[in-house]
Amino acid sequence: MVDPNPRILPYGMAAIDEAAERIGRGECVAVPTETVYGLAADAGNADAVAGIYAAKGRPSFNPLIVHVADLAAAEALAVFDADARALAARFWPGPLTLVLPLRTDAPIASLVTAGLATIALRVPRHRAMQALLAATKRPLAAPSANASNGISPTRAAHVAASLGNRVPLIIDDGGCEAGLESTIVAGRTILRPGPIVASDLPFAVQAHSIDSTDAAITAPGQLATHYAPGKPLRLDATAAAADEWLIGHGPVKGDDMLSATGDLREAAARLFDALHRADASDRAAIAVAPIPHAGLGEAINDRLTRAAHR
Ligand code: TXA
Ligand code: MG
Repeated sequence: MVDPNPRILPYGMAAIDEAAERIGRGECVAVPTETVYGLAADAGNADAVAGIYAAKGRPSFNPLIVHVADLAAAEALAVFDADARALAARFWPGPLTLVLPLRTDAPIASLVTAGLATIALRVPRHRAMQALLAATKRPLAAPSANASNGISPTRAAHVAASLGNRVPLIIDDGGCEAGLESTIVAGRTILRPGPIVASDLPFAVQAHSIDSTDAAITAPGQLATHYAPGKPLRLDATAAAADEWLIGHGPVKGDDMLSATGDLREAAARLFDALHRADASDRAAIAVAPIPHAGLGEAINDRLTRAAHR
């Protein structure tokens, strides 16, 4: 069992100062972003990055997203073309990750990119992650702050329950606004659907099928079993079977609701929280109401499909 009592500090100067000091020492720290809580470490320090993999129990072939303060910091690490610059101008800071050619001189530990010639970069909007980037003056590698294959954390308590004392410090700044991991774009392909949807983009994109056989090359982290709760999960349920915890949405009333009014933004923000509650409930299985596939529904259904696949 993990230690249920890791150190948790509310967002503020004391938390950021301690976090920056720990990152400078090569430790990792859990910090909220506008998408999910991340487990951050200095992306230039291979030992520190190894600490992330160790804490998460993550397979080492899975590359990490690097967070930087602004576009200038991103351009020091990767080569931007006109499309990438347009996306950065429009969506940074925010929940968009760009996969770009890695500069050969970029001071990034090769463990971060798992040896790929590309790097996934994001400029986050959240005040805590922005403050940490400013205080450390380092690019920060940060996957979601949960044990590998667990449900992503949208609250400090989720991080504590999943990682316990494997993380020395958790900065608590409440629930995450988007509640889903960032949209990942490579060229004109969406590798991972997320808070920024295809119709938001200034050009037509291909949706990449994560189940395709080349998934290992283009989006190595998009393993089918990602986000799995510890119980069987049934999708498109309109009523609970015996011993099922029903997560409702819109007209389908459940033990818990993603959004009573059918609002997809609210549903996305509540999704992982609802899965955590379902996992912790006394029922043996989980059922989830149908979620429309349009707009943000694509990203929600993507995460649910993975959660159901175990
Ligand atoms: O919202 C988010 O993006 C959160 C917060 C903490 O920022 N982070 C996050 O990171 O979701 P992580 O490590 O859980 O997801 C990394 C994803 C994986 O699907 C991985 O395969 C993909 O990014 N990725 C990383 N580098 C890549 C690369 N060079 N090429 C293709 N995919 C890459
Ligand atoms: Mg994750």
